[in-house]
Amino acid sequence: MIDWLRNILFPKDKDTTSLLADYSMMVADIHSHLIPGIDDGSPDLDTTLQMLRELEAIGLKKIYTSPHVVSDSYNNSTDTILAGCELVQNAILREKINLEFYAIAEYYLDETLTEKIKRKDLLTFGKNYVLVELSYQQKQNIANELFYQLQVAGYRVVLAHPERYPYYYENNFDSYHSLKDRSIYFQINIASLTGRYGRDARYTAERMIDEKMVDFVGTDLHRLNQIPVLHEALRSKYMSRILSYDKLLNKTL
Ligand SMILES: [Fe+2]
Repeated sequence: MIDWLRNILFPKDKDTTSLLADYSMMVADIHSHLIPGIDDGSPDLDTTLQMLRELEAIGLKKIYTSPHVVSDSYNNSTDTILAGCELVQNAILREKINLEFYAIAEYYLDETLTEKIKRKDLLTFGKNYVLVELSYQQKQNIANELFYQLQVAGYRVVLAHPERYPYYYENNFDSYHSLKDRSIYFQINIASLTGRYGRDARYTAERMIDEKMVDFVGTDLHRLNQIPVLHEALRSKYMSRILSYDKLLNKTL
């Protein structure tokens, strides 16, 4: 077959060779909702164990699960989270699931966080990283102040799924650059790369990868039916690129 015709019929996808078989290069997941019954994630221990077996099967080694801490809905404390974590750890041993399992939290930024910062009562991972989330609906004026309080107290702030906040991505990326100027770490959701949260979130996550702004990736796993999306994301060339990125901090945990 002449070359030009072959190129039209079978275009060479340079990334095909680098597509991923699994998530073993990621090593650790830092965002999921796997402690049963304490937030909008796993409802019971059986479901948690099924999800953990799936995470083990796709090549992950360490899970830092991150239940919501939101003062007016999921008012979890360090104690309730750690008690739930112990329950899951015991079940993992019993069931011989080959994963390290730890608990952190996904802290919603509101005024109640100030008290926790003062008491140094925050669950951290790695080099004193704290995972935080913001409102999807409206830009919170308090956010920059809380980022500052966290940093002054010695925490490194990791913003969960920055690609999903419309008031940031609608602002021409300037908001993201100014967050980076404030030394905020970014954790994008794997599912964003499949378009699961819409075109804007996908485009934003991809551009963040292009601009080397991504520090962590996370599954943000809540339910068993989200597992197929993790498989689907392995076919994304951006997934391949971010897991190959040598500064991806998941690998350091
Ligand atoms: Fe989450």
